[in-house]
Amino acid sequence: MPSDSPEQTASLPRFGFSTRIGFVLAAAGSAVGLGNIWSFPAQVAENGGAAFVLVYLVLSLLLAYPALVAELMIGRYGQSNPVTALESVPQNPAWRTVTKLTGIVAVLMICLIFSFYSIVGGWLAGFTLAPLFETTGMPSAASWLQTFSPTRNLLLAIIFIALTLGIVNGGVQKGIERWSARLMPLLVLLLVGLIFTVMTQEGAIEGVHHYLIPDFSRINETLIMNALGQSFFSMSLGVGAMMVYGSYLKRNANLPNVALQVCLLDTGIAFLAGLLIIPALFVAMNLGVSIYLPDGHLANNDTLVFEVLPALFNNLGVMGIPIALAFFSLMSIAALTSSISMLEVPVACLTERAGLSRKRASLIVCIGVLAIVAIVIAKFDPLFGAVVSLTTGYAQPIDGLLFCLFAGWLMGRNRKLQEIRKGWPEAEKSLFWKVWPWYIKIICPIMITSIFILQHQS
Ligand code: TRP
Repeated sequence: MPSDSPEQTASLPRFGFSTRIGFVLAAAGSAVGLGNIWSFPAQVAENGGAAFVLVYLVLSLLLAYPALVAELMIGRYGQSNPVTALESVPQNPAWRTVTKLTGIVAVLMICLIFSFYSIVGGWLAGFTLAPLFETTGMPSAASWLQTFSPTRNLLLAIIFIALTLGIVNGGVQKGIERWSARLMPLLVLLLVGLIFTVMTQEGAIEGVHHYLIPDFSRINETLIMNALGQSFFSMSLGVGAMMVYGSYLKRNANLPNVALQVCLLDTGIAFLAGLLIIPALFVAMNLGVSIYLPDGHLANNDTLVFEVLPALFNNLGVMGIPIALAFFSLMSIAALTSSISMLEVPVACLTERAGLSRKRASLIVCIGVLAIVAIVIAKFDPLFGAVVSLTTGYAQPIDGLLFCLFAGWLMGRNRKLQEIRKGWPEAEKSLFWKVWPWYIKIICPIMITSIFILQHQS
């Protein structure tokens, strides 16, 4: 493609992020998205409230955080796309084939994640546009956008994918960093504002209790497995997204520290989103919206947030429309800063391994993803749930586990230490360095495997 600028061609310059805070915000932009606002609250509602929140917080710190450091480290060490980076981890050629294959599977999985994400991202876009149509005298268009139908799902998913494509084509700094850095603080402010608003409504306090006071008897294997999958999904782990971002990270960045900031930001925003949506759900039930089936399960996992939030906004009178618009547009942007990190993974592989231009690579991937989207939409039930479960319930935890094993066993202690020391010269003397190498070598793999075995036995 002749119009490509040098920055957009195959050899994307490394160190693509101009500032450290820019990176933290971009990686947090990848982490913060639908996982926090769509899937986390629904998981909390489905899995017994505070008990799930507690297990989720513990697993995010104990499992997802160390895995995030491992993934960022492999990415920066490899200085390339996830497949090449993983290939560079072992010194023994036989293992190289194994790590490379893991990388290829990860890239395929991230394309599947991108496809279901685009469907939900499209719904968000629809809920963003709806208030605009409403206020301009087109209520039937507004209601079409908010009503589940294959045509609407497909149209909106196409819009979402096209937006992602546009940003990714802009290149690393120009696109990703700029979007993430400016809008995230706004989202947090709006969340906090809405939490205060919802607290004044009938039924909200009951929701707060449900969210904060754990009923320990609800903790079982399924809950733990769901919390594990949720924390890996929310931190974009196990499919190479953080590896790509690690490869764009400056040499002198302190990996454990940067990872901790991303982890805390992501978990913090999920916690805030839950603190808004669970009380809002109780308010909605008070207003007669039916949320749970008689057997105690959610009537609709996938669309819970899209029922609860509009009920809340409608209840706010005239202010409801601008607030809905602000909320859904910020959320759409958060979803886009996540989806660009998904598209970036196959694009980095195709530009660097197959020599395609950035534009061509991103177009090819988007067309492929769109084909998957069309199939999933045509047979929404059961395909949507199956894709979500395959990727977040299996691929992410298993690949995340493999990345820990590779970093732990195939990348010698010295190479790891060297990589960590680049941004943290005193790392060797730290508690982190005493614990983490063992932790990813032994503890993380044992914990993840046990959770799997326990759940599949039950
Ligand atoms: N973490 C994002 C969220 O919570 C989703 C996401 C972005 C993601 N990149 C990813 C999930 C890579 C898995 C893999 O919405």
